[in-house]
Amino acid sequence: MPYYVTTPIYYVNAEPHLGHAYTTIGADILARHMRQRGEEVFFLTGTDEHGEPVAQAAERAGVSPRELADRNARRFLDLMPQIDVSNDFFIRTSDERHVARVQEVMQRVHDNGYVYEGTYEGYYCPRCADFKTPSELGPGNACPIHEIVLELVTEQNWFFRLSAFEDALLRLYEERPELVMPDFRRNEALAFIRGGLQDVSLSRPKLKWGVPLPWDPGQVMYVWFDALLNYYTALSFARPGEDLTDRFWPASLHVMAKDILKFHSVYWPALLLAAGLELPERMYVHGFLLMGEKKMSKSLGNVLDPFRVIEQYGSDALRFYCFREVSFGQDGSISPAGFEARYETELANDFGNLASRVLAMVERYRDGVVPAGVEVDPALAGGEGGLGGVEVLVAGLLDRAEISRALDVCWGSVRRLNRYVEERKPWELAKDPGRARDLDAVLYNLAEGLRVVTLLLHAYVPKAADRLLGALAERSRGIAALGSRGGGQRIERIPPLFPKLG
Ligand code: MSP
Repeated sequence: MPYYVTTPIYYVNAEPHLGHAYTTIGADILARHMRQRGEEVFFLTGTDEHGEPVAQAAERAGVSPRELADRNARRFLDLMPQIDVSNDFFIRTSDERHVARVQEVMQRVHDNGYVYEGTYEGYYCPRCADFKTPSELGPGNACPIHEIVLELVTEQNWFFRLSAFEDALLRLYEERPELVMPDFRRNEALAFIRGGLQDVSLSRPKLKWGVPLPWDPGQVMYVWFDALLNYYTALSFARPGEDLTDRFWPASLHVMAKDILKFHSVYWPALLLAAGLELPERMYVHGFLLMGEKKMSKSLGNVLDPFRVIEQYGSDALRFYCFREVSFGQDGSISPAGFEARYETELANDFGNLASRVLAMVERYRDGVVPAGVEVDPALAGGEGGLGGVEVLVAGLLDRAEISRALDVCWGSVRRLNRYVEERKPWELAKDPGRARDLDAVLYNLAEGLRVVTLLLHAYVPKAADRLLGALAERSRGIAALGSRGGGQRIERIPPLFPKLG
């Protein structure tokens, strides 16, 4: 089964911040892991460029929406290699191939009878590009996310018949319990649907910056419909001269934070049903990275600059920290002090020192050759953090996008290997020539365990893992079981993987 994973496409009204990097790294970890398992993977990210938020920001900056979009899309594009993201394509919704495909799909929705003309009245947040229902409004009719007072807007526009899909969506959620994960997010989506679905405005009459409605080109499409369709349209033009839609649609997994749950879990499946298209298999809805108590966001001005963090600590450290500190799925606070602590104790000490020690001992005691002809030690394979079957456990968790729990399992194995060094004391065995076979066994088990866990960590910390696997003379980047390689290879010593900060 091909694996098609997506991130939300990010608004270009602001520059990228760590929150955007977080989701993108999460999806990247999954994409990398699936490739390691030999799956055919397509990984999409990109930018959401139309709509009021962008048009307004451009006006404030005194430039055209396209200029602003070009400038900020570039920042998002540049972010990807810096955080070591291996996306297969980067979609921009201002791309005319996207626009044409969106029009095609929406025309189908129109022709299928799910569109009508009417008057809309409601509280509209231009930053969310969303009409808020009374229950969603904060005190004083404010947007609960952006904390700005909203105006009551009355408009003549086109509507999408969302209400027609209430029963179909309830059935869908019944039949496919894993459509929205984790479970508590599925319940939120269900509660929203059970609360009754109102038709939604599908077009914006006053706005110019968007996709013109094919049947009424004087209006542009509501940006959320244009945006959601990126997951589908990208496949038709991501590869020049090739249409990947049949190969990769429906998407295997959409990854996003809880702020856009409603759009993905309610509007999106309804829109696809209305267009007669297949629905994505699953979505994973994660929580917010918080700085102090607040969600990081450009408009609240409390962002942590990922470019600066990478400069100081490297991309691996950032990738590791985000998923280790905050359990994927939950909200959690991050801080510069937290970064430093995890870096020192876990990356530099637990993992970096383990790697240095194992490489050094193989060199010192066996002239750099991993002993061959010895068995896997059952003591290392079993028990807490045991490495036997760890690859199966991690794969099972990542199948359900449990990125932090899978990392916990890997870390359990890193710590198990450290305990194994302390328990077996290779330096004492080395003093006694009568125990040469025991020393062979310990060194083989350490090198083999380190190889297995480093292959698993490759999706999280690709740069460090590549260096260490190079030192361990491991060419494959697949997923391996403890004992699947027999020893005999010549290792090399390397400088510390995660040098202590001065
Ligand atoms: N353009 C829409 C999405 C359209 S998808 C069809 C949008 N853009 S956004 O720029 O606001 O990005 C929102 C997403 O960015 C969140 O769902 C999440 O993936 C990521 N995050 C932004 N800030 C974040 C945190 N502070 N913490 C975690 N994720 C964050 O909404």
